[in-house]
Amino acid sequence: MTSTTKIHLHSQKTAKPFLKWAGGKSQLLTQINHFLPQQLINGKIKKYIEPFMGGGAVFFHIANNYQVREFYISDVNKELVIAYKTIQGYVNDLIELLNNFEQEYLSLNENKRKEYFYQVRTQFNFHRDKLDYHKFNSQWLARTAQIIFLNKTCFNGLFRVNSQGEFNVPVGKYKNPKICDIQNLQAVSRILQNVEIRHQDFSKWEDLIDSQTFIYLDPPYRPLTKTANFTAYSQQIFNDDEQIRLRDFFQRADQKGAFLMLSNSDPKNHNLDDDFFEVAYQGYHIERVKASRLINRDYLNRKTINELLIMNYENLEFRMKNLE
Ligand SMILES: C[S@@+](CC[C@H](N)C(=O)[O-])C[C@H]1O[C@@H](n2cnc3c(N)ncnc32)[C@H](O)[C@@H]1O
Repeated sequence: MTSTTKIHLHSQKTAKPFLKWAGGKSQLLTQINHFLPQQLINGKIKKYIEPFMGGGAVFFHIANNYQVREFYISDVNKELVIAYKTIQGYVNDLIELLNNFEQEYLSLNENKRKEYFYQVRTQFNFHRDKLDYHKFNSQWLARTAQIIFLNKTCFNGLFRVNSQGEFNVPVGKYKNPKICDIQNLQAVSRILQNVEIRHQDFSKWEDLIDSQTFIYLDPPYRPLTKTANFTAYSQQIFNDDEQIRLRDFFQRADQKGAFLMLSNSDPKNHNLDDDFFEVAYQGYHIERVKASRLINRDYLNRKTINELLIMNYENLEFRMKNLE
C-alpha cells in the first residue's frame, strides 16, 4: 500500500484550525456560539463571510455545524492564503511533504532538532520575496508544509513576523509535536471545497453582502498604547483609523440587512474610561464575554478578562433564557 492510499483510509467529520494563530478564537467558541444569530441556526442564512480569517476557528465551527450555502473567507496575510488554497486543492501532496518533515524531525535529538528548525526557518524567509503568490505552483506546497512545520514546532506555536516580514519565532520544546495531522488536514480540505478564499482587504466583500448574509469580523486587537505593536500578523498595524474604517464597513453592511458580529479585546480591561467601542458602535448591541487570556506575564496575576462581541442583532433565545 502506498502512502497515498493509506492517507485515504483516514477520515474525520469535523475540521479545526490547522495553524495556531495570534488572536485565535478557539477558546471563545462557546461564548460566540451563544450569540450567533437565530437566522443562522434556523437555516435562513445563505452566505457566510469571514474577512479576517486567521486560523479560522469560527469559520470551521460554523462550517462544521450549520447549513450555509456559500462560504467566503479572506485575509491580508498572503502566506496564510496560499496555505488555505494549497489544502483546498492539493491536500494529499501536502500530507506527503508533512509526513517527511514529521519523520525526520522526530528522529532527531534536541540539538539536531534545533538545527533542523532553524534551517527550515531560514529557507522559509529566504524564499519569501521570490514566490509567485498569485498562481498555484509547486512552491506553494513546500511553503505550506514549512509554515505548518514551523507553527507546530516553534515556541508557543504561533506565526509571527518582524517588521521586515520575516518569521522570527524561536524553536519550541514540544517533545512529540503532531506535525502531520492527516485526519484534520483532510477534514479541512473537504470543508474548503465549497469555499471561496481570497487575499484581500476586509472591505472588498461589499458587493456580495445581502440580507441573507452573516459576517463575522475578528480584526487584530486594538493596540493598548500608541506604541504597542503586538498585532504584527502581517506587518500592518490595525490602529484606530483602521478600526473606524471597519466600523464604516460594519454600518454599510448593516444597511444592506446583513447580520454582523465583531469581536475585539475590551479596552476597559486596562482603562475603565476607554469608551472607544461604545462610541464607535453606538446603537449596536455590545456584550462582554469572559476570555481566559493572559494579560500579564506574571503567572500569579493571571485573570480572566473581557472580550467584546458587537452585534447588529439581538439573540432572542439568549434574551428569553435570561428573562426566565
Ligand atoms: C485576530 S486575527 C483573526 C483570528 C481568527 N479569528 C482565528 O480564530 O484564528 C486577525 C487577522 O486579520 C488579518 N488582517 C489584518 N488586517 C487586515 C485587513 N485590512 N483586511 C483583512 N485581514 C486583515 C490578520 O492577518 C489576521 O490574520
